[in-house]
Amino acid sequence: MNLKVLVTGAAGFIGSTLTHRLLADGHDVVGVDSMTAYYSRDLKQQNLNELTGERFTFIDGDLSTMDLKALLTDVSVVFHQAGQPGVRASWGEEFASYIKENVSVTQALLEAAKSSHSLKKFVYASSSSVYGNAERFPTTELDRPEPMSPYGVTKLAAEHLCSLYARNYDVPTVSLRYFTVYGPKQRPDMAFTRFLTSAIKGLPISIYGDGEQIRDFTYVDDIVEGNVRAGMGEAEPGTVVNLSGGSNVSVNHTLKIIEEMAQRPLNVHYTRAVDGDVVRTGGDSSLARKILNWSPAVAINDGLAKHYDWALFAVRQSNANV
Ligand code: NAD
Ligand code: UGA
Repeated sequence: MNLKVLVTGAAGFIGSTLTHRLLADGHDVVGVDSMTAYYSRDLKQQNLNELTGERFTFIDGDLSTMDLKALLTDVSVVFHQAGQPGVRASWGEEFASYIKENVSVTQALLEAAKSSHSLKKFVYASSSSVYGNAERFPTTELDRPEPMSPYGVTKLAAEHLCSLYARNYDVPTVSLRYFTVYGPKQRPDMAFTRFLTSAIKGLPISIYGDGEQIRDFTYVDDIVEGNVRAGMGEAEPGTVVNLSGGSNVSVNHTLKIIEEMAQRPLNVHYTRAVDGDVVRTGGDSSLARKILNWSPAVAINDGLAKHYDWALFAVRQSNANV
């Protein structure tokens, strides 16, 4: 069935990958992005260049100043991916942008969603960062969230807003807690894009701490599949659910995989651990299996191979343009 859907943050890593999938599925997609300066506008423009066809409408604009009720006209599903990401950058003065992009914008969208007659689902991109250093692994949605970073606090606050707009106004929200997402188009501040690009170029790689921190890395197509299932499914309003890839590997382990792919020794430096980084993430995906019939399909070696191919292509392209 063809639907009119809204993807916020459509020029970003996850938003653009999701939009590609929704267009392939035959939906009419309105994408919004303010092209924030957190990373290069050129990269976001490249993501947008791949989104073509008459079913796609792009609005270059800031959700905090838009007429959101008008934006939601006839929209059946909102996929709210826009936000200010990045765990380690969320301290100090930068926190103001986390409050604005993650909390205030989500609240404004929920206010607009309250009076929509067409909306069937409001899917919110939450984060494993809400857990902080979790009490146990695999971590379930019932475990106590206790963020370690200011970023995590804002993602949790917005998640609570989704649930309370569901309780008070029946806004049909589903919050998806993504665990460290990777794959082609991953943001340039994130680990794998940095490691792979440096491996290909023979540049140094900086590891924060001893590299023994564990992440439940999740391939981007799995995250997109989870969004589609949440957006088109029947989850109760206010649902909160983990989307975790099941990889549970240390950063050092991923360096070994990358070294084999690059077929050259990596130039790795260990530096001070960074405030806000947690020792481990690991999500229980039983609830996602139960209510979304979702399980991660891409194993870390396969996903990293795809991410490597994309990074290689990007490095070759930038060399050709010099
Ligand atoms: P991204 O920075 O690539 O994409 C976010 C996009 O939102 C950007 O293009 C930005 O310009 C846009 N944006 C920000 N504020 C806006 C506003 N006011 N109006 C319109 N557009 C705005 O980040 P990403 O990695 O694709 O993350 C997408 C979402 O998923 C974020 O909400 C992030 O917190 C969440 N998330 C990401 C991960 C991950 O591992 N990448 C994990 C957990 C949660
Ligand atoms: C990622 C995203 O950046 C957040 O937006 C998201 O909300 C979060 O996942 C999540 O799961 O909720 P992070 O886990 O820090 O955060 O993702 P990466 O940037 O891929 O880092 C993975 C690990 O590599 C971290 O322990 C980090 O300290 C380490 N790292 C990263 C390095 O050692 N060196 C680097 O250059 C970059």
